[in-house]
Amino acid sequence: MTRHLPVKSSLFQSNRDRLRGLLPEKSLVVVNANDIPPTNADAVMIPVPNSDLFYLTGVAQEESVLVICPDAHEEKHREILFLRETSEHIAVWEGYKLTKEQARATSGVRTVMWLQEFPVMMRRLMCESDHVFLNSNEHARADIVVESREARFVRETVAMWPLHRYHRLAKLMHELRPVKSEEEIALLKEACRITGDGFRRLLGFVRPGVHEFEVEAELAHEFIRQRGRFAYNPIIASGNNANVLHYLDNNAVCKKGDVLLLDVASTYANYNADLTRTIPVSGKFTKRQREVYDAVLRVLRGCIKNLVPGKLPKDWQREAEELTQVELLKLGLITEKDIKKQDPEKPALKKYFMHGVGHPLGLDVHDVAAIGAPFAPGWVMTVEPGIYIPDEGFGIRLENDVLITADGTVDLMADIPIEAAEIESLMKKARG
Ligand code: GLY
Ligand code: MN
Ligand code: MN
Repeated sequence: MTRHLPVKSSLFQSNRDRLRGLLPEKSLVVVNANDIPPTNADAVMIPVPNSDLFYLTGVAQEESVLVICPDAHEEKHREILFLRETSEHIAVWEGYKLTKEQARATSGVRTVMWLQEFPVMMRRLMCESDHVFLNSNEHARADIVVESREARFVRETVAMWPLHRYHRLAKLMHELRPVKSEEEIALLKEACRITGDGFRRLLGFVRPGVHEFEVEAELAHEFIRQRGRFAYNPIIASGNNANVLHYLDNNAVCKKGDVLLLDVASTYANYNADLTRTIPVSGKFTKRQREVYDAVLRVLRGCIKNLVPGKLPKDWQREAEELTQVELLKLGLITEKDIKKQDPEKPALKKYFMHGVGHPLGLDVHDVAAIGAPFAPGWVMTVEPGIYIPDEGFGIRLENDVLITADGTVDLMADIPIEAAEIESLMKKARG
């Protein structure tokens, strides 16, 4: 059984339909599950579903393979899902695995076979096909040193069948996945709702003397009890830890006078939220913290407004930097003189805001999209400006998840408290 409630198979069916719409005649598509990476001794990591396989089938189980061959001679071979055959032995040692009927109901794929039938079917369908679409991780920022299951499969297939025309499935997936359907948006909203509950829970919990890991535990409790789990390693960074952008230790004590940066969110049905809030440990921001907080909030609001269909992400980033620069001048962190003499490759503002202002969000936290593709209706973007001031011992980032539509943006986190005064008043109320 999955942790999340059943998702209608029509979502995955329509995703496959959209993919088929992009294929030339006589195509064959193969998508593999992820390997379960080993750790130490006989231990393995917690399995992570392959996002493309889930997108196309709703199946997260290891070793599964989806084959799509729209022009296959036999109608029943046009979509096949291969699963590792379950057995009494597997049931005893590993527990529940999908039956053929369950896989059919989950994915809407009518033909489900056990994995041992794959080589024979693959040979047959290769003989019927001209164009072969295989998958690869083409995320621009991926840093891969281990050959994945998919990469092994590509290597072996091309070696065995060198005369076919091979294509990059990732290119098509990067075209399809950024545009979210209504069902996907509902799942993202559920992830945001759970995330919001986790954040509200913290407002009554955070106080001087609490460890960052105790805050993490509170969130884990709230997310998991609501069928979620951490969407990514939570960043719970008090004081100067907030200025380490990828801070993951979460071991420090939250001190009076510090602000606590929380980049924490839940996933639901493999769809991820991505939230950042920054709150005062003592329940009240200092005057300076509040000034910087309000500056970041203004940038966030400006950047949400700037998310319009047709705009290029790099132009949106430039606008975010312009908005931040105005605030940095007002805060006295940079001067007009700094700007005048700056190296255009290293603008002065980058000292205080050095990361991207947002990214597509979905089945991956940094979701896939074609590089340089303009925003379009259906995209969900994070919006996450920040100002980091190590010299003053704090950093502030705020992050909401926003849907782009033809008639404006929809902030999927609009009801998660963000105004400084509201956060202070909720913290005060929660403490009684
Ligand atoms: N939590 C990861 C990010 O904000 O991109
Ligand atoms: Mn984040
Ligand atoms: Mn983010």
